[in-house]
Amino acid sequence: TLGAGVPWLASPVEIGRLLRSRVPLPAPFAVPLPIPPVLRPRTDAATDYYEITQRAAVREILPGVRTEIWGYDGQFPGPTIVSRSGRRTVVQHENRLPVPTVVHLHGGHTPAESDGYPTDLILPVGQDHAMSHSMPGMGMGMTDHRAVVTKGTRTYEYPMHQRAATLWYHDHRMDFTGASVWRGLAGFHLVQDDEEAALPLPHSERDIPLMLTDRAFDADGSLAYPSLDPTLQDKPGVEAAYGEGVLGDVILVNGAPWPQAEVDAARYRFRMLNASNARRYRLALDPPPPGGAGLVQIGSDGGLLAQPIAHDEVEIAPAERFDVVIDFSRYRVGDRVRLVNRLGSDTTADVMQFVIARTARDDSHLPDQLSRIEMLDPAKATVTRDIVFRTSGGGMWTVNGQPFDPNRADTIARLGATEIWRFTTDFHHPVHIHHSPFQVLTRNGRSPGRFDSGWKDTVIVEPAGQLSVIIRFDEYAGRFLYHCHNLEHEDMAMMANLEIRP
Ligand code: C2O
Ligand code: CU
Repeated sequence: TLGAGVPWLASPVEIGRLLRSRVPLPAPFAVPLPIPPVLRPRTDAATDYYEITQRAAVREILPGVRTEIWGYDGQFPGPTIVSRSGRRTVVQHENRLPVPTVVHLHGGHTPAESDGYPTDLILPVGQDHAMSHSMPGMGMGMTDHRAVVTKGTRTYEYPMHQRAATLWYHDHRMDFTGASVWRGLAGFHLVQDDEEAALPLPHSERDIPLMLTDRAFDADGSLAYPSLDPTLQDKPGVEAAYGEGVLGDVILVNGAPWPQAEVDAARYRFRMLNASNARRYRLALDPPPPGGAGLVQIGSDGGLLAQPIAHDEVEIAPAERFDVVIDFSRYRVGDRVRLVNRLGSDTTADVMQFVIARTARDDSHLPDQLSRIEMLDPAKATVTRDIVFRTSGGGMWTVNGQPFDPNRADTIARLGATEIWRFTTDFHHPVHIHHSPFQVLTRNGRSPGRFDSGWKDTVIVEPAGQLSVIIRFDEYAGRFLYHCHNLEHEDMAMMANLEIRP
């Protein structure tokens, strides 16, 4: 692989602070791929109810190494929630961690009270007020007078007025999202609907979510993270700097290092989520199947595409989702196929391995038409905004020249309006907008790129790049956000308020 064993060759592709593990790393493909368990709800006529406890737990992520994680129900990834479109989902979170938390449903079309605003804290059970070191915005001397802080538990309500899609939930506490997600606070939340269920796509045990994350491990087995959080300091290997994002040298899929999955010689659907703090991946199959184009994209952040798109490689930025079908009947039984990362080097060039274990019956197929997508019409846009994501120097990452302040209304949009947002940047920034999905109109002055199709909620903007998107703000008024989803940039205040007014 390019640059294997030569660390300085890693820098052009691995932009950010690469932490090296200080424990022995396992051989790749030695651990079976875990699948996060699906939570069972309590139900009534119109609603599914869930309860999740956020707590620390000790896990064996690397064979023979004990690692403390922070997990939803003590698991990493957290348990998967499966909702039905149109059916209300209510999730009660109890916080048994030592720090306040906030839960955001990423990709959820959610009323503001349940969206997980970064200062709407759930205080730990038994803690009556936010301790000074964990006060939101403390670094900038700010408090948020509109914050709704709850003690011990909080109930989030999701109406699920949205189409089938692969969503995920994760921590979103102001200034500390990177550290908390790194410790494990992330899980899948899938939405299903009738349109998708009517298609002959691979399903059940051939519909598999894959959460990609990178991590690094300290000599004592703990997750290494350079953090400003005093609860995480005084640990070996921890440095008080975020730099351009934190990268690890261990690639985890569903929480397991470089795992292996035995598959049938049949079609599988993989819901790939990049839940890494800052790492981008360019994923490919090695060897590719005869004829190539082994990754057939059927969905993006916001659900099914109109038509499948066959790719040799898929580039996935933090928080993006790519729903792909791989047809393992294009290989022979006994073949081993690696999912590789062409932006990685050395240990980060491998992701996982599939072993084609047996022939099997396959009733699935891939329709030419997956869905009908309403294309938002630029002629209907009433507002065009220019939004700049840039470092200000001095370690602050800014949106339109300003670091995040919960008390400032940065962007005020009218409920129901269609708007065009034009982003420019000085770096790779995965830009994420809460509230509503969008469609890419142009990338760098041209038509959208190969990975920009369908409804998106997160999109990469390249250095010196320009990207315009069209978005419509339906249904919910209130205070929302948009921000860079490089979690270290987000924590360094590259975030802005989106206020939607009736
Ligand atoms: Cu995935 Cu505002 O976050
Ligand atoms: Cu960024």
